[in-house]
Amino acid sequence: MAPHWPEEVDVFTVPHSRMKKLVNLYKSMVMSTDFGDKVHLTSLLQNLHNVFTELKAHERIENTFIMGELRSKLRAASISNPAVCNCHSDNRLTEMQDLVSDGYEWAEKPQRERQIYGRKLRLALEDFTQNFLPHMDMEEEVFQPMLMEYFSYEELKALKAKVIKQHGIS
Ligand code: FEO
Repeated sequence: MAPHWPEEVDVFTVPHSRMKKLVNLYKSMVMSTDFGDKVHLTSLLQNLHNVFTELKAHERIENTFIMGELRSKLRAASISNPAVCNCHSDNRLTEMQDLVSDGYEWAEKPQRERQIYGRKLRLALEDFTQNFLPHMDMEEEVFQPMLMEYFSYEELKALKAKVIKQHGIS
């Protein structure tokens, strides 16, 4: 369990609450989708497209604002930490976006093939979720303490404000 940091300098918890809501949203959508039904499947794909666009934006914001600034701080202190460079190299977001895009072609196929695609999509989502939830925990447990160490309190307040604004969270 990640330690609790003062809310005004905790850059991960609020965006991650939003990401966890999205995870719960797609889990419940997938559970209630009849993949054999073209309208159901197409509606799910549109919702998943929106979800993964938001997850991808989250990753971009972290790369640009959090990891980018953390890397600069570490460089200034002559510290090398590969985890900071590679933390988004294996979270399969792009693969999921491609799988969702492919789904529109599958939706045009006969019912049996839509169901085959549905099984593949469900398994891929489960696999993605099993990686993504620990990934967020890792960011909170590993990177937030590093931010606390290398940034001033005021710098972190400003960073958090930037991160929240970029996510469009009020
Ligand atoms: Fe906060 Fe890299 O997901």
